[in-house]
Amino acid sequence: MRPLHALIDTQALRHNYRLACQAAPHSRALAVLKANAYGHGALECARALSDLAPAFGVASIEEAQALREGGIEQPIVLLEGFFEADELEWIAAQGVTCVIHSEWQLEALASAQVTQPIAVWLKCDSGMHRLGFVPDEVPDVWKRLGDMTAVGERVLMTHFATADQQESALFGHQLATVERLRQALGQPPVCWANSPATLSHPAAHGDWVRPGIMLYGADPLPRANDLSTELQPVMTLESRLIAVRELGAGEPIGYGSRYVTEQPVRVGVVACGYGDGYDRHAIDGTPVLVEGARTCVVGRVSMDMLIVDITELPEADVGARVTLWGRGPNGAILPVNEVAACCDTISYTLLTGVTARVPRRMLSST
Ligand SMILES: Cc1ncc(COP(=O)(O)O)c(C=O)c1O
Repeated sequence: MRPLHALIDTQALRHNYRLACQAAPHSRALAVLKANAYGHGALECARALSDLAPAFGVASIEEAQALREGGIEQPIVLLEGFFEADELEWIAAQGVTCVIHSEWQLEALASAQVTQPIAVWLKCDSGMHRLGFVPDEVPDVWKRLGDMTAVGERVLMTHFATADQQESALFGHQLATVERLRQALGQPPVCWANSPATLSHPAAHGDWVRPGIMLYGADPLPRANDLSTELQPVMTLESRLIAVRELGAGEPIGYGSRYVTEQPVRVGVVACGYGDGYDRHAIDGTPVLVEGARTCVVGRVSMDMLIVDITELPEADVGARVTLWGRGPNGAILPVNEVAACCDTISYTLLTGVTARVPRRMLSST
């Protein structure tokens, strides 16, 4: 068998979830499990959190259905709402909560014949300009929803565009806008905060927070704070050396000969490549752990393999364990953020990008 797998540490997931609760002690924390729980396995993560999290967030009824079929009974919030009016029957029957962001959805709800009222989260576009009603429309939409027989509990929500920035005028503007609406609507339950706002903006906590990336152990803040330093990596992407080569000075390595050795080196070939989701943009010097010791990628990542420098690790041989990110065999940690920075991307894309051919192995949550 190919030695590459993604180990999923559900204890770390639970730890990170508890950290979100600690950061926002007066809020309930909806665990965002969309995109297969950011690549970690949605059903397994939902099960691991099922005694802690009062609700889960997903992106589609397909994702919600997989959780319901797996026995998850908590409220599930469809973060983009429904895509077709005929989804409403299933949504109502399954007790799934729906974000409402557009007029066409309001009209569909107004004429829906459903077996039980649907809980809705009304999305206000307070400045991100992705989904939602503009602030001036919100009071009227809120009332229309309140008058509909197909609608049950209502929550007001928004999404921040810049909660992960140190100083952001837009963040202040968005928060002030939705707080004004909250007052005007008579203090309904609200949900504003993603991970960075959960960790660093108590004023934005509201009744619910919606952490995603922090649950998986990646720090969403540009400069770590006390809580974010306690996050633990949930996914460890791990493989082994499948070949070792000794090369003299002046030898090219990999496609395009991007890397040329300056002196004699020992390199190891790792069974992991962009076909597994390891980013092809990884530069020479991107960190990896070999048996827990830091070294780095040399040469361009190929589809199924990449090459690492093991000149300083004479013990490393075929079969040595390689940690692409996460926790190494001796407890050393390689944060996915560090790898992402060397690929000119963010942890979100690396984690969600781990492909289906990489087996996920769950470490027990008990
Ligand atoms: C609507 C919504 N809420 C919450 C989240 C979670 O964000 P984060 O992963 O930054 O915590 C996302 C993620 O993209 C989102 O789209």
